[in-house]
Amino acid sequence: MPTLAANATRMPRSGIRAVMDVAWTIPDVIGLHVGEPSFVTPDHVLDGARLALDRHETRYVPNAGILPLREAIAAKVATHNGITASPGQVVVSAGGMQALYLALAASVSRGDEVLVPDPGWPNFAMAVQLLQARPVRYPLRPENGFQPDPADLDRLVTARTRAMIVNSPSNPLGTVLTPAHAEALCRFADAYDLWLISDECYDAITFDVPHVSPAAWDEAGRVLSCFSFSKTYAMTGMRVGYLVAPPKVAAVTSIMQEPLLSCVNAPAQRAALAALSGGGDFVELMRRTYQERRDKAAALLDEAGIGYHLPHGAFYLWLDVRDRCGGDVTDWALRLLNAEHVAVAPGTAFGPAGAGWARVCLATKDAALLEGLRRLVEFRD
Ligand SMILES: Cc1ncc(COP(=O)(O)O)c(C=O)c1O
Repeated sequence: MPTLAANATRMPRSGIRAVMDVAWTIPDVIGLHVGEPSFVTPDHVLDGARLALDRHETRYVPNAGILPLREAIAAKVATHNGITASPGQVVVSAGGMQALYLALAASVSRGDEVLVPDPGWPNFAMAVQLLQARPVRYPLRPENGFQPDPADLDRLVTARTRAMIVNSPSNPLGTVLTPAHAEALCRFADAYDLWLISDECYDAITFDVPHVSPAAWDEAGRVLSCFSFSKTYAMTGMRVGYLVAPPKVAAVTSIMQEPLLSCVNAPAQRAALAALSGGGDFVELMRRTYQERRDKAAALLDEAGIGYHLPHGAFYLWLDVRDRCGGDVTDWALRLLNAEHVAVAPGTAFGPAGAGWARVCLATKDAALLEGLRRLVEFRD
């Protein structure tokens, strides 16, 4: 048998899988470990796809996506994100993940280094590795409110650093970049001539602060902004996201879509267009529901004296279990799962800085979320 590519076989398995594998075997498990919205996809979004199917819109469409969707996205980022972009600067992707992959594949080469958040979504490091580049983790510390510290970034930059990934609102932390941090990151990228890849998959889900897009401070055409329909419209399986990039990058990444997937499937793009054309109420209802769940969960944890980082966006709660887990947080999560039938994501799945922490998903319905937290609070082994 020929050998497999080393960068593929060296890919680490997601640290959440250890919990998932066991959770699947427990029929009455309370699953607080995965990030799937508890809402069903709204009807107006489904209608968009249905109409496309009825009209037999089942053929190839442009690599960068159908024009009406790119126009609607350009209008959306202008009003919601403060980003001025033409439809030609929008590339429709298969979910936010593929927008990220496009951004990385267009900007980094073999052996380059990419700054990734720690803790951060594991897919960042995995994608960098698949491209034969090297993820370099930058710490997000509780004492800084989990915001990036410029001193850390300066220390980690080398001659090989080509890009930095920033994620706001953050999975798993729920932190939201402040305008000052967003601007500082752009100036940091200017100082070292880096690409700034901004993952804004949860841009519609912030609680008591506004979402800010680093591209609004981009003076040099170096910010590649990645968005998704998955969480905003509870349509994770439809697989539609988008990259908004400077014209040259958008042109290159449109061409890259050809060998990667040719184009995103047309009915899913019509569903995304329908999502943007209506449904403001749905997004607000969902956002408010997550905020209410956050507040109920926080009240329960306050009463129990368990530490956590109060999220201002996304739908995760970052729990401090350093004094409970006895060292290895994955082992602790497995013991919790086996004893109490509650699944949480171990913090180390998001990088070494997650040691002693666990991620709880607030997208779970209220009753299950609160019962799961109650059992977690009472769990002592
Ligand atoms: C931080 C972050 N970015 C991007 C994504 C990509 O989502 P999708 O590919 O479904 O759009 C996710 C999904 O969980 C995420 O948590």
